[in-house]
Amino acid sequence: MFDFSERVLLVTGAAGGIGRAVAQEFVTGGANVVMTDINYDATIEAAQAVDPLGTRTEVIRMDATATADIERAIERCMTRFGKLDYLVTAAAIFEGDPFDTMTDEQWRRTISANLDSVFYICRRAVRVMTDGGAIVNVASEAAHTGGSPKHAHYGATKAGVLAFTKTIARELAPRIRVNAVSPGTIETPMVSCWLDEHGPDYINTIPMRRLGTPRDVAQAIAFLCGEAAGYITGTTIHVNGGSYVGA
Ligand SMILES: NC(=O)c1ccc[n+]([C@@H]2O[C@H](COP(=O)([O-])OP(=O)(O)OC[C@H]3O[C@@H](n4cnc5c(N)ncnc54)[C@H](O)[C@@H]3O)[C@@H](O)[C@H]2O)c1
Repeated sequence: MFDFSERVLLVTGAAGGIGRAVAQEFVTGGANVVMTDINYDATIEAAQAVDPLGTRTEVIRMDATATADIERAIERCMTRFGKLDYLVTAAAIFEGDPFDTMTDEQWRRTISANLDSVFYICRRAVRVMTDGGAIVNVASEAAHTGGSPKHAHYGATKAGVLAFTKTIARELAPRIRVNAVSPGTIETPMVSCWLDEHGPDYINTIPMRRLGTPRDVAQAIAFLCGEAAGYITGTTIHVNGGSYVGA
């Protein structure tokens, strides 16, 4: 188990499969967690599951593409918990749009939700983050392999998240470490339609012969935030059961 006592995390996309698992991992480790998501009701429900007494979590409706929402969330974090040690950016969308008919609006929506959002929250958070703090951005296997068909915008955003992560890791060292995780296929609402389309045979193509769980990803994130990763910055941990072995 990870020891995050006296630490404060802000996570985006906290109502989703991975965001919620991250909140759970950190609360279990003793942290206070600000759970933000555009879907307020689902975040309330997630927080009740993670922290039934509500003593260790703060729920905030935050559209990660809206700088005013981000401002409010950081202020609430500072008022409630007095500091911010860790930031995890898990909010994203995964829409299927064939490239040759993709509209400007479809392209922009994914760029905004998956890439602009990461820039906005990192920029604001680092102004208040504790020295020795850590950021983990959630990228994707798609950043390394290219997105699956109909996901050119998604793949582009995730590759952008990786380059952004490496760049700000240099800028923010030695004060704040910045890393990424690249999940393979993880069993969450985001990929349920995609999995229906690809069927159970897909699982046999994964060397570990199973889909990833949100907790598989949350534990890699917790490692990157924790003391054991104190000399690790600007890098990416792949969490994909061996489905992609990079050069
Ligand atoms: N599930 C997978 O197989 C997989 C694979 C690779 C990467 N990822 C990445 O992991 C992260 C978490 O995904 P997940 O699988 O938990 O998906 P999910 O759909 O369960 O969760 C995503 C959450 O982000 C929220 N969100 C979307 N747009 C938002 C916005 N503008 N502002 C605030 N919140 C917003 C949604 O409401 C949702 O709760 C994402 O960055 C995703 O791209 C997932």
